[in-house]
Amino acid sequence: VAWEARQSITSIRQFERPDLLRLFDRADDIRDRPSAYADAATPYVLATLFYEPSTRTRLSFEAAMMRLGGKVISTENARAMSSAVKGESLADTIRIVSGYADVIALRHHEEGAAALAAAVASVPVLNAGDGPGEHPSQALLDAYLIYRRRGSLDGLTLTFVGDLAYGRTVHSLALLLTHFHDVTVRVVAPESLGLPTALAAELARRGVTVMPFSRLEDACRHADVLYVTRIQTERLPADLDPDAARYTVDPGVLAALPAHAIIMHPLPRVAELPPTVDADPRAAYFEQARGGLFVRMALLLRALGLD
Ligand code: CP
Repeated sequence: VAWEARQSITSIRQFERPDLLRLFDRADDIRDRPSAYADAATPYVLATLFYEPSTRTRLSFEAAMMRLGGKVISTENARAMSSAVKGESLADTIRIVSGYADVIALRHHEEGAAALAAAVASVPVLNAGDGPGEHPSQALLDAYLIYRRRGSLDGLTLTFVGDLAYGRTVHSLALLLTHFHDVTVRVVAPESLGLPTALAAELARRGVTVMPFSRLEDACRHADVLYVTRIQTERLPADLDPDAARYTVDPGVLAALPAHAIIMHPLPRVAELPPTVDADPRAAYFEQARGGLFVRMALLLRALGLD
């Protein structure tokens, strides 16, 4: 089912290949001709409802709306500062905010929250991360960077490393890659933090080759993309040591990674991606985050029925 204008986005599963390519083209045009879009969403209001911390997603959604000429209302710490504190349900909050805004970007700590919100909202709800579930707009900006760098996602070999169990950006990007041909996903994760079995099975069923590795260097040889993720310490079970087998992009990893490859990370990064890597010409994570602005402008235009 294609993602239609004015629809909510709860999962990257809603996107088909033509939707993705169309979105990338629109993001490119916005990047090239920002003034042509400066008044595109002038009468509209975006509400950002964030029940979990964020730097990139909230601020880039808000900047995107403002750069389209629209306005923003925001609860940046909804878990502590909204009427959730008084016991208001997410469903009631969404019903109320639907009356104030034309589109809602929602980040929530529970998987499935975006789907619940979309079911009761009278305006589109954009999933800005639902617990360990999905982060569709992150996957779109990740894919946009690869598309810009390679011109295609077909034939891609991508290595995911880190917390593949709770890392929602990994889940959404891996599902997005099912729309492209001849894709290989290599996975490297500490024990207990591997790709969920059901997701690995779905990827295989949908034509993606999934290859587990134990040594990161081995998983980097001949790869096109090294996609590094943070251990999601805030989601780990209490008995799981976050420092056990933490993978790091060290000189050995950099030596194994081909010269043409790019290093990506959804950010924020901590110990797994030292700042010394920033000087490596393959480091692409700041450009990755920057592209999120244009992708989210393109998403907002379509969510508002303006594209
Ligand atoms: N990549 C990402 O979701 O970053 P934030 O948590 O800062 O929004």
